Amino acid sequence: MLNDVLQRNRDWSAARQAQEPGYFTRLAAQQAPEFFWIGCSDSRITANDVLGLDPGEVFVHRNIANVVHTSDMNILSVIEYAVEQLRVEHIIVCGHYGCGGVQRALVTERGSMLDHWLQPISMLHRKHRETFALIPDEACHLDRMCEINVEMQVRRLAQTPIVENAWARGQELNLHGWIYAIEDGLL
Ligand code: CO
Repeated sequence: MLNDVLQRNRDWSAARQAQEPGYFTRLAAQQAPEFFWIGCSDSRITANDVLGLDPGEVFVHRNIANVVHTSDMNILSVIEYAVEQLRVEHIIVCGHYGCGGVQRALVTERGSMLDHWLQPISMLHRKHRETFALIPDEACHLDRMCEINVEMQVRRLAQTPIVENAWARGQELNLHGWIYAIEDGLL
């Protein structure tokens, strides 16, 4: 299996090079993406494919349930680099319907590392418990929570000093909250 993957890499590289000579040399020289994608780690959603963009066109950070933790050095470093070095113009927080991470945040069972990670989603859900009780259908309930999670993460992103400072100095920076459906491939 692994050899298979390595062979696929060689084939891909050769095909790409044949299609567009100098492709890799040009890419290696610099990256200047206009977009920064914060998405879920789900293996079915890859930013470049969904957006129809080539390598070099979108900077990417992914974690389970696309959470913006304001104490997460990993995501903060990536946001800082995207905003201050790459100077991306658009940050897209993209969730997806049927997210397993969001689903996990809705169950009462606790104890794994993942539950700590998902705590902001659990807390948000608890806060709106009465509203959610009005949505009896489980899939609808989860999907609505996936949408609300995106909204919360965009707000958290907007409140980071990195974004606040960028706006204070007049930098062009737009935040977007999007959601993706695996069923039809549409945003
Ligand atoms: Co997910």
